[in-house]
Amino acid sequence: MKAWGLRLVACGLPLFLVVAVTAQTQRSQPRFGIGRPATPDEIKAIDIDVMPDGRGLPPGRGTVQEGASLYAQKCQSCHGVNGQGASAERLVDRESGKNWDFAINPKLVKTVGNYWPYATTLFDYTSRAMPFMQPGTLAPNETYALVAYILALNKIVAEDAVMDPATLPKVVMPSRDKFVIDNRKGGKVIK
Ligand code: HEC
Repeated sequence: MKAWGLRLVACGLPLFLVVAVTAQTQRSQPRFGIGRPATPDEIKAIDIDVMPDGRGLPPGRGTVQEGASLYAQKCQSCHGVNGQGASAERLVDRESGKNWDFAINPKLVKTVGNYWPYATTLFDYTSRAMPFMQPGTLAPNETYALVAYILALNKIVAEDAVMDPATLPKVVMPSRDKFVIDNRKGGKVIK
């Protein structure tokens, strides 16, 4: 028995070394030879965390009108006129009534107006991820303006609304109360 144990250790150790060395080599060499590490500036451009209560919003402000012209330049090609959707998601819709329930009617198109629980998240996402091909290029003022415009199209804020770190967290989204905390531990798929 003892001899077996020793032999296993003797065989196992070199194998372990080979695995460790291979893992190390893979880490330092790109596996597919594409891409490159992000630069600190590229990371900084999208490194924001805006909380539902507005913590993390940068200073700035934007109006619905400013947002309308930015939208035409930078968003409309994919999201369509008035946010009605084109090659990319529709951003505007205010479904209401008893069928406005994604659990009952999963075919409903999810939009900012009928699905997003917080307006602050719209800032966070837009600033981090849009325009799709140039994420991180929107200045805070531009993002506030675009958010104001998208909220106005959804009839959630008025045409003369100004969005800034104080006003945006106060916007109550139509779907704010449609979300529940998921505290299940196993059990049914639909709560
Ligand atoms: C090149 C096409 C393109 C452009 C331009 C573009 N988007 Fe998008 N957008 C997309 C795609 C694709 C998605 C879906 C991304 C995903 O699901 O990962 C998306 C998703 C979104 C969403 C989330 C929609 C949802 O309810 O899930 C918002 C909000 C949004 N875009 C806003 C904007 C704004 C504002 C601009 C202009 C600054 C913009 N987009 C420009 C392609 C684009």
